Amino acid sequence: MASLTRELGIDLGTTFTVITEGQEIRLHEPTTVAILLDEWKMIEWGQAAKNMFGRVPEDIEVINPIQHGVIAEYEITENLLRYLVQKICGPMVLFRPKLMITVPCNITSVESRAVHEAGIGAGSREVYLIQQPLAAALGIDLPISPPSGNMVICLGGGTNQAAVLAMNSIISSKMDRTGGQKMDGDIISYVRKHYGVILGQATAELVKMHIGAAVKEEDDLSLEVQGQDQVSGLPKSVTVTTEDVVEALQDSLRDIIKMVKQVMEKTPPELVSDIMDRGVALCGGGTQLRGIDRYLTHQLGIPAYLVDNPTTCTAEGASRALTMLDELKRAIKQ
Ligand SMILES: Nc1ncnc2c1ncn2[C@@H]1O[C@H](COP(=O)(O)OP(=O)(O)OP(=O)(O)O)[C@@H](O)[C@H]1O
Ligand SMILES: [Mg+2]
Repeated sequence: MASLTRELGIDLGTTFTVITEGQEIRLHEPTTVAILLDEWKMIEWGQAAKNMFGRVPEDIEVINPIQHGVIAEYEITENLLRYLVQKICGPMVLFRPKLMITVPCNITSVESRAVHEAGIGAGSREVYLIQQPLAAALGIDLPISPPSGNMVICLGGGTNQAAVLAMNSIISSKMDRTGGQKMDGDIISYVRKHYGVILGQATAELVKMHIGAAVKEEDDLSLEVQGQDQVSGLPKSVTVTTEDVVEALQDSLRDIIKMVKQVMEKTPPELVSDIMDRGVALCGGGTQLRGIDRYLTHQLGIPAYLVDNPTTCTAEGASRALTMLDELKRAIKQ
């Protein structure tokens, strides 16, 4: 008889939450909530809450309860999780679901305990935690069981992570509390310095996604966007080019290279040699930056390749991990 217990994989990201059930993606929405401040009550969540950002009256606040991959607002995170789990599973009177929640690698035990408790508080019977690079590797079908090395780089909204995996475990890894949001900030600083115009965060992200690149491209695109004049405070439009964005992102890109090199230094030479042969898989929304695969390949001297499901592979891998609890028992925390 099939199990009556529902099993969900949850990738609780800084910018997006993805929930999977088996092989199905059940939810993919911004990790954003709108709160009624007087009652500390959630009145909107996901894309609808994100759309309210910067446009709400004083008694409402739009919050991202996850910052840099970890819980920044515990109560809101627990409430959001409970709401999402119930939305997918129903009121679950009889059978409380089993959850596999992803966490960044190298967070503190206090940070991971908070995620576990939020899962229990959300109504789960059993909560497992899996580190994101491991989940991502499972979600893209990397052969991580044999004793040979594989590497993934995960570029998210609030974290960058790199890890070497073998024998269903993480051998060496690093997590930097930075990511796509920092890049948006880089673009804001650049445009302010070079054009005297202050862009909003959402506009900067739009610029990055539409015309951004990691390396100079032959077709230098441009985009006209609205900002605020630095001196007068009045609205002012500015045309930003791909070349501007490439220049703005150089420091953040260099930090990714530094992180990967530090992981390589901690990795046994046999595994490094496997990775040279197999290449490095690029996961996370940040890997959709144009040319990032070419940039990393050139800078690292190892082939870096894009995957088909960069934004959902971590959640897909979390669901898959629920079917491999025995094989993964050394890597998974309960
Ligand atoms: N085309 C693009 N170019 C560059 N960055 C992009 C592009 N599309 C999305 N992103 C960035 O990807 C990030 C979101 O990625 P993802 O959903 O993997 O993050 P997350 O899982 O929420 O965060 P984290 O894993 O750090 O907690 C955002 O910062 C977004 O701006
Ligand atoms: Mg993520």
